[in-house]
Amino acid sequence: MRSVIDILDLDVHELDALTDTALDIIAHPDDYADACRRKKLATLFFEPSTRTRLSFEAAMYELGGNVLSMASAAASSAAKGESVADTVKTVSCYADIIAMRHPKEGAALVAANSATVPVINAGDGGHCHPTQTLADLLTVRREKGRFGDLTVGFCGDLKFGRTVHSFISALSRYPGVRFVLISPEELKLPSYIKKDVLQKKEIPYVQTEDLEDALPGLDILYMTRVQRERFFNEEDYLRLKDSYILTPDKLKNAGPDLSVMHPLPRVNEISVAIDNDPRACYFKQVSNGKYMRMALILKLLKEAGTL
Ligand code: NCD
Repeated sequence: MRSVIDILDLDVHELDALTDTALDIIAHPDDYADACRRKKLATLFFEPSTRTRLSFEAAMYELGGNVLSMASAAASSAAKGESVADTVKTVSCYADIIAMRHPKEGAALVAANSATVPVINAGDGGHCHPTQTLADLLTVRREKGRFGDLTVGFCGDLKFGRTVHSFISALSRYPGVRFVLISPEELKLPSYIKKDVLQKKEIPYVQTEDLEDALPGLDILYMTRVQRERFFNEEDYLRLKDSYILTPDKLKNAGPDLSVMHPLPRVNEISVAIDNDPRACYFKQVSNGKYMRMALILKLLKEAGTL
């Protein structure tokens, strides 16, 4: 059974095909309106979510399918101590495909090993978030027209930010990509990603604490929030939370073609005064996420023989 736990579960040809499908859905939504008729998606969210859960659900409805939704751990048998494995075995009896978010790294893999239907990782702790990367890739394709030959700055919480980990893994497969990793010392990109991805593939990267200095050389700036829920103490969070705030004044140093991205939710990292700047792409990412999730649901249900 094909599941998507990590963005590397999809090869570059599949990423191209998914973005092609998403663009076709955008151009011809009616052609897809019945594609998943009588099929059910279960959304199991053991952690808070707005965009990911609602975009999965909107995606399934726009494909003509139905949705079973578990919006919180507290409202499910997880609160009684049921394991992830037992939960997904149960849900496999009711749904054709599962999207799951869980606070523990590796929970999605456990789920995929127990489910009898495809599982999509909608975020596992501070590990990875492949469908946000799909949203991000479609945004890059629409904004830049290419995945390679880009200088991409990641700014904020690169340690716990799972969207950063997945997006870096995905972009590292394209030629001519360079990274500028902007974070406080305590929130640097984990060394396993630097070793297993960046150094292994000889991707050029620099680490800095200085956003303003990095801005002029970037094609894309990917801002992130400091991940409060992954901190061991509140004091550290309070000290680090406002490390970077992108303001119109700072953006004056950036080029006219910069794309400012953010997986959202935004806390304080991007001034709302930037929202109307043509370089702001974060609400486009929100919309792109729905189309890529439609494309992924279709692909996995077809491969499972359900469609
Ligand atoms: C992200 C996540 O859940 O990791 N949100 C999202 O899915 N768009 C980013 C975040 O919570 O900071």
